[in-house]
Amino acid sequence: MGRIPEEVVRKVIESSDIVDIISEYVNLKKSGRGYMGVCPFHNDKGPSLSVSQDKQVFHCFGCGAAGNVVGFIMKIRNLDYKDAIIYLAERLGIDVTYTETKDKNSQIKERLYKANLEAARFYYANLQNSSFAKKYLENRGISTKVINRFGLGYSLNEWDALIKFLKSKGFTIDELILAGLAVKSEKGVYDRFRNRIMFPIMDIKGRVIAFGGRVCDDSKPKYLNTSETPVFEKGKNLYGLNYVVKNKLPNNIVIVEGYMDCIKLHQFGLNNVVASLGTALTSEQSKLIKRYVRDVYICYDSDAAGQAATLRGLELLESVDLNVKVITIPMGKDPDEFVNLYGIDEFKNLMNSAIYITDYRIMKAKEGKDIKNPLEKSKFVNEVIEIISKLKDSTAIQHYAELLSNETGLNINVIIDKINKLNLNVDKKNNNLNLRHNIKGNIYNIIPAYKKAECLLLSLSLHNDKLFDYIFSRMSEDDFITSVYKKAAGIIYSKKTNKIEITENELLMNFHDKDDIQDITRIIYNELDYSEDLYKMAEDAIKTIKKYQLEEKINDVKNKIKIYEENNQIKESLALMQELVNLQKELSLL
Ligand code: CTP
Ligand code: MN
Repeated sequence: MGRIPEEVVRKVIESSDIVDIISEYVNLKKSGRGYMGVCPFHNDKGPSLSVSQDKQVFHCFGCGAAGNVVGFIMKIRNLDYKDAIIYLAERLGIDVTYTETKDKNSQIKERLYKANLEAARFYYANLQNSSFAKKYLENRGISTKVINRFGLGYSLNEWDALIKFLKSKGFTIDELILAGLAVKSEKGVYDRFRNRIMFPIMDIKGRVIAFGGRVCDDSKPKYLNTSETPVFEKGKNLYGLNYVVKNKLPNNIVIVEGYMDCIKLHQFGLNNVVASLGTALTSEQSKLIKRYVRDVYICYDSDAAGQAATLRGLELLESVDLNVKVITIPMGKDPDEFVNLYGIDEFKNLMNSAIYITDYRIMKAKEGKDIKNPLEKSKFVNEVIEIISKLKDSTAIQHYAELLSNETGLNINVIIDKINKLNLNVDKKNNNLNLRHNIKGNIYNIIPAYKKAECLLLSLSLHNDKLFDYIFSRMSEDDFITSVYKKAAGIIYSKKTNKIEITENELLMNFHDKDDIQDITRIIYNELDYSEDLYKMAEDAIKTIKKYQLEEKINDVKNKIKIYEENNQIKESLALMQELVNLQKELSLL
């Protein structure tokens, strides 16, 4: 998909109201000319988030988060610029794709999405008309509401019921085979799914891309799934995720194995559950999850296979820096069976007692070992040391080393030594020790004085033509230090000198990075106090910038002089001394 045309972006931004959008995530209260609420981007209880309806921007006094409506969606839903525009456009019913020439490939895909959607409707209608299939779901405790929400269906016990239906809708046999809905054999073409409860699998946009079908008895295979098709790549989707991220994002996501587990937990009100569908998690799925949350629970069957799958899945989730906790269900039950027997509150208790992956690994290492037996103890210690040495955070390493020491009576220093030895053998890419990204965004940034000054100058230039003339007679865009402000200065300069009106939101449209949008919004949010001498304010700001530039130059020259002196390059060093004196004089005159 190519670029979204600028007119469409403008239309999307102009048609969205920032107060409406932010209200979906934050409880906003009218306050003066704007709105205030609790900022969703940092831990806070007080109302530090300010939203301006006139200016269509938000700004947090606590953490400095700021932006227009696109910036807000980018931040809160973890989307890039384009996807944020698409997200807003879809809600407004604005077609962002109309200018794009559709290639053959995407035309085929469109047909497959349609065929799958029609198939889902057909299966759904079949279920409504089949007391047998309805009975099966009823016996498994699935409510009508969940059947409707997840679009569950039933494939008839016939060879070509779906084929006939979709042919009548204008689809070709080849399209049905390509979609994985029909299968070709020597004897002819027949429906892939027959006499099964049907689970439509949707992508994040809610398009039906595949199906899972479960037998209604004990026959085999229990589940049949669509194989890979042009619209269904295994390991790239998660069942249920489209429902989980539809509205407000959850604080965390629970990953289960099966269709039934997923829909049953939703039925009990846990609306943050997705299913990995029996296979080990892939890195694509992990990244997909990370777009929406930082904390995940993993809850697989507690049988042996389930545990192996758990451990493999954990590594991938960890590798994208998600915080992972493991829910262990007792007595070999799966989540569906567990909530049927004990109810959702007991399941929530299991969630509360979920343990961090490292603890889970250590627990697994201990299982079946008698620590009193020296050989088994040594094996346990080595396994745990291996687990601990993979941790990136030194506090965590210390923590687990102490636990191991307490548990085994081994001296902590011996343990730390062993860990260090292991780490020395591992390649030294662990430069990022302690640098885990558990702080959301770059909040609590202290803004340097020169950057504040730049922001003020741009704000003054934007609001007043005379001040613009004054400021740009004293300096040029190249004098701006912060790159995003340099770019903004260039845009403002070229518009103003060409007598083109530039609005604040127009300026914002030139910036597509979250942090840039934030910096530009600061220009807009700069409340100017018109009772003050604006020329003096501008002059002071220009001085601040020049001062910073001179100080940087001076530091640079000083460093060079030091190097020349160390190398006994006296002539070069003396030349620079003269320059240093000049610079210092210039600074004192500011
Ligand atoms: N699965 C599959 N093919 C199979 C068996 C399982 O694709 N032959 C996938 C399905 O996505 C299934 C998941 O693995 O939901 C978990 O399998 P299992 O625990 O056996 O099934 P349950 O989800 O518990 O299904 P049910 O409760 O209906 O027996
Ligand atoms: Mn089950």
